[in-house]
Amino acid sequence: MLKTTDTEDLKFIQEAAEFSVIDNCGEHVHYRGLIEFSNICHLDCYYCGIRKSNSGVERFLLKEQEVVDLALWCADNGYGSIVLQSGERKDRKFVDSVIRMVKAIKKQSISEALPEGLGITLCVGEHPKDVYQEMYDAGAHRYLLRIESTNTEIFNTMHPDNQKLSERMECLTWLREIGFQVGTGVMFGIPGQTYDMLADDILFFKKRDIDMIGMGPYIVHKATPLPNDGNQFQVKGDDLVRLSLLMIAITRLVLKDVNIAATTALQTVDPQGREKGLMHGANIIMPQLTPTEQRAKYLLYEDKPCQDDTMEECKSCLGGRIRSVERIVAQNSWGDSKHALKRKHP
Ligand code: 5AD
Repeated sequence: MLKTTDTEDLKFIQEAAEFSVIDNCGEHVHYRGLIEFSNICHLDCYYCGIRKSNSGVERFLLKEQEVVDLALWCADNGYGSIVLQSGERKDRKFVDSVIRMVKAIKKQSISEALPEGLGITLCVGEHPKDVYQEMYDAGAHRYLLRIESTNTEIFNTMHPDNQKLSERMECLTWLREIGFQVGTGVMFGIPGQTYDMLADDILFFKKRDIDMIGMGPYIVHKATPLPNDGNQFQVKGDDLVRLSLLMIAITRLVLKDVNIAATTALQTVDPQGREKGLMHGANIIMPQLTPTEQRAKYLLYEDKPCQDDTMEECKSCLGGRIRSVERIVAQNSWGDSKHALKRKHP
């Protein structure tokens, strides 16, 4: 199915995926207010614009209070859930800060509309199991850790030797054992990657009983070493858009009741990418909360859209985009995936 190019077949897959998301998850689209609170990163992933070796990036770390205030803005605006994302740091100072922010946000976001406070997703990379446990105990109940590719060879072309696919897999195991709702995902269009590998990635999501998927096309950042060597998924034009939408649609058809994000990267390769993502089975949107003056420093890839939009502008723009595809923005709910809820209450 991933190789489909025929217009009628593509339409058939799109309609099946759209039917599946509405049937399994409902018409609602859930917001996750995305706060990219620091671009300081100790890793050197070959594709990422904020990799340690990119000395062209000015590094920032938001103040804890600033992060808490952004989260509370989300709560006041009915978002229900947030994602705290940053570059990867393993030092205790960083971990303690994340834990303090999670606790403060949890406590201060409780209201009549959100009796259990905001739903908090963390996306802060690989950590030892006991650190994940502390983060969970602090009140985060979801964790995103993209596997990037489940193919060892491809993973290794994307990462330096000190990053191992097996270690990331182990982290996903720990997160699940601890009780997190676990999210993962891959990039498509990596040099050397094949359709078979992407099909295996989808089967991996299924085998690992994953709750949430965030994935998108690989977009070259010129200050990084991973080349775009014109392989079969060359990062240009319609092919990558088609592949991205097929990945979402087929993941929806195979996994059925998980949450799938229509990512910003999708909008980078197609101005209507997020709407198309929703029509192909996605049900999550992550509006940007990162202060506009810091956004330009959080460029994982080039041409990242919405650089200058304030959080208010993101809110109204995304609301319009969602309504344009006849879906409804959920208010004041965590929007846990049906898959995770079924595991909890079979
Ligand atoms: N193109 C697309 N996505 C990227 N990411 C990082 N760099 C790029 C890029 N150049 C994605 C990775 C990472 C997530 C936070 O952003 O999948 O896990």
